[in-house]
Amino acid sequence: MLGRFSSCRLVLRGRPLWRYRSNETRIEPEEWESVERSKRRENGGSDGVDRALLCRIIRVDHAGEYGADRLYAGQSAVLGRGPVGPIIQKMWDEEKAHLQTFEELMVRHRVRPTALLPIWNVAGFLVGAGTALLGKEGAMACTVAVEEVISDHYNNQIRTLMEQNPQHYTELLQVLKKFRDDEMEHHDTGLEHDAEQAPGYAVLKTTIQLGCKAAIYLSERI
Ligand SMILES: [Fe+2]
Ligand SMILES: [Fe+2]
Repeated sequence: MLGRFSSCRLVLRGRPLWRYRSNETRIEPEEWESVERSKRRENGGSDGVDRALLCRIIRVDHAGEYGADRLYAGQSAVLGRGPVGPIIQKMWDEEKAHLQTFEELMVRHRVRPTALLPIWNVAGFLVGAGTALLGKEGAMACTVAVEEVISDHYNNQIRTLMEQNPQHYTELLQVLKKFRDDEMEHHDTGLEHDAEQAPGYAVLKTTIQLGCKAAIYLSERI
């Protein structure tokens, strides 16, 4: 259903992908046995966890938080020294914490990252910086657009896990709910700082949201 790219088997076969960040993500030979056990639990094992679903959620959320980190980096590069600099910095710091959490979850659950990270690196920064060049309102319009999509995305994942069996995903559900709340707060911060005054707000918002949805679709699969 999810295609060959979503299989956690790639954790072993695609070992080089693990090295994208640091040595701490390498799978040493002595760990292979536990990875093999994880493989056997794919698509629902004795512990009741749907490994394919878990991998897909962690992978796409890591990609999203990675893109958000780059987006706020772009905004900060343009507006960091202005009056909204501290506001952007606060949201950026929270995105960094989100990203770190998903990096840790990826290592612990042996989930490979999306192959599209280099694209989200560049695209996130360019969208952040580009909208910030429209002024404070442009940056905040971007924040509203992105955070609205991400909040909905987290809500959809929470709903899916609740329908499966919340007891099997206690930790992940806590993370998703906390981050959903943070993203909604970012969304509200954007509105409070004149997002709707941005030039071409409606078109800008729709365009960014289409891009976000495409990024989510691709990151779940590649
Ligand atoms: Fe986030
Ligand atoms: Fe956010």
